[in-house]
Amino acid sequence: MNQVKSLSYKADELAIVWEDTSESRLQAIWLRDHCQMPSSRNPDNGQRLLNITDIPQDLAIETVTLEDRRLIVRFAPDGHRSEFDLDWLYDNCYCLNRQSDDRSEVSKILWSGTSFEQGLPRYSYTNFCEQPKSRLAALQVVSDYGFVLLDGVPRKPGQLLKVIEQFGYVRETNYGPFFEVRTRVDPSNLAYTNLGLGCHLDNPYRDPVPGLQLLHCLESSTEGGESILQDGFMAAKILREEDSDHFGLLSQNWVSFRFRDSNADLQARGPLIEVNDLDEVIKLRFNNRSIDTLRLPPAVMRRFYPAYRHFAEILEREQQQIVFKLQPGELILFDNTRILHARKAYSAGGTRHLQGAYSDLDGLYSSLRKLNEGS
Ligand code: OGA
Ligand code: ZN
Repeated sequence: MNQVKSLSYKADELAIVWEDTSESRLQAIWLRDHCQMPSSRNPDNGQRLLNITDIPQDLAIETVTLEDRRLIVRFAPDGHRSEFDLDWLYDNCYCLNRQSDDRSEVSKILWSGTSFEQGLPRYSYTNFCEQPKSRLAALQVVSDYGFVLLDGVPRKPGQLLKVIEQFGYVRETNYGPFFEVRTRVDPSNLAYTNLGLGCHLDNPYRDPVPGLQLLHCLESSTEGGESILQDGFMAAKILREEDSDHFGLLSQNWVSFRFRDSNADLQARGPLIEVNDLDEVIKLRFNNRSIDTLRLPPAVMRRFYPAYRHFAEILEREQQQIVFKLQPGELILFDNTRILHARKAYSAGGTRHLQGAYSDLDGLYSSLRKLNEGS
């Protein structure tokens, strides 16, 4: 509980020096906009009831008084009175609290190929469904590392949708609520062959891109077909360290992605590396099968290719990858904006059958916050 050491104000600003010597300088308009009174906020859901245009143009702080741990601010010209809890002010003050982005690279634990020598993060499906503590731990692992493995998932078609129901919603697409990954005659997608697939993120041709992907192994009796995962945020960090111009080219230039078959023609644009307003990596798009015709201005094109190749070379470095063979009953759940996946080619003999599905990250983060509140 931080105490106030001194308090001063003028028409457009309130200044608080806290006991720990930190300082809050809060503008009048911010205070009025963040008024917590029932006339400004719905007390039940906390939603704001006023518009920015409802605040008088000539707003000014008239008086400020401290009563117990509440700061009473009276505003001119309308005489509006706001009360602020001191702890709320300390925790929400924009001078003391940097904006944080729980999707960005700085909120994550970046990893490379040797990070999981003690074993992959793995939880039992039964515990995941039945024990909120286990679900919380597994979802936290997805938030931190970008992926988790569940075992003991019943080998029934569509069972992966039950996993999604535990924390969010199925993102249905033109492939259906879930899709079959096995060798097909006349495949519409190379995923449905026994060819190897290089490191990629799924569906950059959608807007928004599905934030989460699940792959559930129902059968695996082929030679080969190992799964490969790697941390794309780590790869982007390496690229930025090795050549910041290359990083800038991939984050500043948007490219197109496209998928076409007899029923769909999906197209979307975006950068291979997306950064937020703080210049932190938040989202990747990388898929050599579905990147569309590149139409960058000629001078950019000349510089773009070396950068694109450099990033692809980092993604091919084996020391960045983990390789494992999914066993029947195992499922991987991963962040499709961060974790690239690949698979090795497999033999024609035997059967390999996975089912895949998508979901969105906001459902996962929401469940994680709610589980944390309850724990
Ligand atoms: C996919 C895919 C990987 C695999 O279907 O998106 O990449 O292991 N499959 O078959
Ligand atoms: Zn894929």
